[in-house]
Amino acid sequence: MRKIITADNSESFLNEEIGESYHSHKGAVEEALQKYVIPCKIREIAKTGKIRILDVCFGLGYNSAKAVECALEENPECEIEVIGLEYDPEIISRIQEVNPPLRGYTLYKKITPQKTAVKEGKVTIRVVMGDAREMIKKLEDNYFDAVFFDPFSPKTAPEMWQETFFREVWRVMTSKAVMATYSCARMARDNMSKAGLVYDDGPIWGRRGPGTIATKWV
Ligand SMILES: C[S@@+](CC[C@H](N)C(=O)[O-])C[C@H]1O[C@@H](n2cnc3c(N)ncnc32)[C@H](O)[C@@H]1O
Repeated sequence: MRKIITADNSESFLNEEIGESYHSHKGAVEEALQKYVIPCKIREIAKTGKIRILDVCFGLGYNSAKAVECALEENPECEIEVIGLEYDPEIISRIQEVNPPLRGYTLYKKITPQKTAVKEGKVTIRVVMGDAREMIKKLEDNYFDAVFFDPFSPKTAPEMWQETFFREVWRVMTSKAVMATYSCARMARDNMSKAGLVYDDGPIWGRRGPGTIATKWV
């Protein structure tokens, strides 16, 4: 794994074995905001006083860390629960090597492969270690207000973009939740539809095509 600096000056890594980086070269932290936090309406949900976020493919945790920052800016009293799914202890240990401009990342810095659950005030973060395709089966029905879906690309990691996984995402989402992802791949969208998710274009940011947002109902 090689450290890279993205265009917004936030650090990421290039996974040389897989041939993909963990974030957009245009800006790792900005990507979290544009591709996940805004489309999943994190600020609006924070106003209700409680938010539960599923951060699929947690990596360095930037996506949910940005969400926590924005939710607390909107409502400092908000109760926030983040569940992350991640199978690679190495990327979790790399959290110690980055310093993104994210208020509250100090809490993420307490996460290590040995200590995967942390809490500060009304914010709890728990990373469930293991293959996301198995681990998601342990999560409760109808639970998450937002799902950040950030695996490696459909070309590199097609197993993550299958109907069976999206069926599980459907199951754990509340009726109002939005799932957001950076890709607009045909195969991914077809599998979302087969799983009962209703998709639409997400924001265009950092690449030519849009991301995808999906909900349980129109
Ligand atoms: C594009 S990176 C995600 C970056 C991350 N969201 C962040 O902010 O740092 C993809 C992540 O998915 C993880 N991953 C890939 N396949 C997985 C699987 N089957 N189960 C759990 N995690 C997986 C990788 O280890 C990697 O951390």
